[in-house]
Amino acid sequence: MRIGVAGVGRIGTMHAANLTAMSQVDEVLLYDPVPGRAELAVTEPGVRAVGDLDELLKESDGVLVATPTDTHPTLVRACLAAGTPVLCEKPIAADLTAMRELVDEIERSTVPVLVGFQRRFDPAMVELRRRITSGELGAVYHVRATGFDAQPPDFAYLPTSGGIFRDLLIHDLDAVPWLVDQPVVEVYASGSVQVDEAFARADDVDNAVVLLRFAGGAHAVLSAGRHDPLGYDHRIEVLAARDSVAIGLDARTPLGAEGHNQNAYPGFPDRFRHAYRNEMVVFTEVLAGRAENPSPARDSLVSLRLAEACEKSRRTGRPVRGDL
Ligand SMILES: NC(=O)c1ccc[n+]([C@@H]2O[C@H](COP(=O)([O-])OP(=O)(O)OC[C@H]3O[C@@H](n4cnc5c(N)ncnc54)[C@H](O)[C@@H]3O)[C@@H](O)[C@H]2O)c1
Repeated sequence: MRIGVAGVGRIGTMHAANLTAMSQVDEVLLYDPVPGRAELAVTEPGVRAVGDLDELLKESDGVLVATPTDTHPTLVRACLAAGTPVLCEKPIAADLTAMRELVDEIERSTVPVLVGFQRRFDPAMVELRRRITSGELGAVYHVRATGFDAQPPDFAYLPTSGGIFRDLLIHDLDAVPWLVDQPVVEVYASGSVQVDEAFARADDVDNAVVLLRFAGGAHAVLSAGRHDPLGYDHRIEVLAARDSVAIGLDARTPLGAEGHNQNAYPGFPDRFRHAYRNEMVVFTEVLAGRAENPSPARDSLVSLRLAEACEKSRRTGRPVRGDL
């Protein structure tokens, strides 16, 4: 199997390395419009740089899109036109209107399109979802999600980031409703600037709390922020009628008070390394027709809609319906 990677930047380089290590992948093809960037990333046998997108599409059994967000719709459409299955990094489009049009086109085609929300590929989260949806855990009472970056992003990125809900919390706004497997009926969000005034200048916040109410009555509290002095902290905890489960609470969780700050996770690539590796495995399994798509394009509309509801709620100070 030959897999193409469009975009050899931060995340594309990581995905290419994971693909190269897989025995089921015979060749990894790299394309990037910046001269020399793809060639520079060819460090092992089984990896080859190609000169343009047409060549990448022609020679690949599946293409991974890891380019800047504003290019995603064009590249996904090129894959659909070529009949080439695609795994596109999140988000597949920058705003709801563009995403709706793209999702409709994807669903009119028969070409598989997976979205790179890596939590959906995390073996621990996949198992937790199985336990919830099979009824093994009983009714879900309450979910707590924690997502704190170790360091804030480059401040120059903030004005184009879309804000904390679309940029950072979007991952848990996708993962938590996917885990609970129920519609969100109401959203309340609050945020504040405590890390740096650069967030206020970008009309954004650097710490936020989100309350989701699900159709079945369960609540989820999502806490997130741009600075954790001890490291990168991502956890999801579910309290249900028959069990209580925590994911991400281990010896590398950055919790100083409990002595867990040795070798704490420095960032998301390390914390989600199993998820990113499995994401590539699942992509090849979907290509081979042996697995269902666990991250379909239409679900991206749910998380983006929720992120927009959060932004509206934090600005108005009022709860917002989840199905807007
Ligand atoms: N799932 C995750 O955890 C996660 C993490 C980080 C980034 N992302 C997403 O991945 C995407 C890329 O982010 P990044 O941080 O790697 O960006 P980046 O800027 O480091 O890399 C993007 C690369 O794409 C190349 N590129 C630009 N236009 C292209 C085109 N038309 N065809 C092929 N290559 C092109 C650029 O030259 C650059 O090398 C973004 O959409 C981002 O939201 C997802």
